[in-house]
Amino acid sequence: MAADRTLTIIKPDAFGAGNAGKIIAHLEAAGFRVAAARVMRMTSGQAGEFYAIHRERPFYAELVAFMTSGDCMPMILEKANAVASLREAIGATDPAEAAHGTVRKLYAESKGRNAIHASDSDENAAREARFFFAETEVIRG
Ligand code: RTP
Ligand code: MG
Repeated sequence: MAADRTLTIIKPDAFGAGNAGKIIAHLEAAGFRVAAARVMRMTSGQAGEFYAIHRERPFYAELVAFMTSGDCMPMILEKANAVASLREAIGATDPAEAAHGTVRKLYAESKGRNAIHASDSDENAAREARFFFAETEVIRG
């Protein structure tokens, strides 16, 4: 995956509240193009592997439980400087600290139930894209 792609997940709180369309519209208005998308219910195994980097953290079990609590929507997004640009668009992990106009300020409930995931590096974006999508499922822009 080139550096102009990143991986996002509309998390179960936002998807379940019916905010997926509004979040996608927000991201498209910010210049992102959807290159792949699916709707799924993550298993505990999948969520545990996806967030394995946080395995030793006190919130890990709560995070896996939350990510498996409902349907979610992984997507590959395309834009110049995609990883940094999406991190800026979603805002800080805790919506109380997120800048105005960010996805988390608009749609997140709390630090744990925070509406959206975004990859934190090009390397992780590529790994996370492969986690959810086959090459044949990604539109070449
Ligand atoms: P994400 O990976 O989901 O995009 O979020 P992030 O980079 O902003 O934050 P990260 O440190 O990677 O944490 C991953 C997710 O774990 C949950 N969390 N809960 N209760 C807590 O103190 C706490 N801290 C983190 C959040 O759902 C966070 O997005
Ligand atoms: Mg993270």
